[in-house]
Amino acid sequence: MSPVQRGNPWATLGDGPLIAPSLLACDFARVGEQIDTVVAAGAEVIHVDVMDGHFVPNLSMGPPVVQSIRRVTDRPLDVHLMVTDPAYYVERFAEAGADSVTFHIEACDGADQAGEIISMLRDRGLGAGITLRPGTPAEAIRPVIEQVDLVLVMTVEPGYGGQEFMADQVDKIGDIRSWLRDDQRLEVDGGIKSDTIGLCAAAGADVFVAGVNVFRSPNIPAAIAGLRSAAAQARQE
Ligand code: DX5
Ligand code: ZN
Repeated sequence: MSPVQRGNPWATLGDGPLIAPSLLACDFARVGEQIDTVVAAGAEVIHVDVMDGHFVPNLSMGPPVVQSIRRVTDRPLDVHLMVTDPAYYVERFAEAGADSVTFHIEACDGADQAGEIISMLRDRGLGAGITLRPGTPAEAIRPVIEQVDLVLVMTVEPGYGGQEFMADQVDKIGDIRSWLRDDQRLEVDGGIKSDTIGLCAAAGADVFVAGVNVFRSPNIPAAIAGLRSAAAQARQE
């Protein structure tokens, strides 16, 4: 894989399927080694879950962790902000070395504020993503959808890894894909494994986050290869 330029990664990564292992499930005592393993296995993107204990009932990592990770990989860092104040944190994660930042529409004070956050990301040359909880209708993101590089459809309630995939989100993936241009990405996150990834790929997803089913697998390269081939096969059917 050729080195990736810093900044908005989504236009340069090819058609996919793109596999984005979620560090939430990694062994943080050896995070550098774990990143090397998934990158050697072909993971195109590293997904970084940021939780503030308010927007979701869990705490994870902040800008200093992203800064350290930045030093050990040239793969794009795809930061998923699960925080109540995305406008405040966007700058901090940009400084820390994120390449793309995705934030929740539910954390915004209306579509206008979401548009302002997207502009902040654009001004910094970063990728801009919008996401929504499973209970939030797709229409909630429609006012800003033309401005983003990526939409992330949550297929679990955000907050924890290792949850069961919510199959009732598949129709939402299809609806949102029908609103997107070809150059915009559709990412899914939560409960992605070899028997759920195909449903998402068939509905139009092209970026696949997977935590437990990559990092807790006894054979990480085989897990990534299995996800990739299941997604590619579902696309062709
Ligand atoms: C959940 C996070 C996910 C999580 C996915 O709030 O956004 O990225 O790590 O974990 P798995 O793949 O284990 O369901
Ligand atoms: Zn995530």
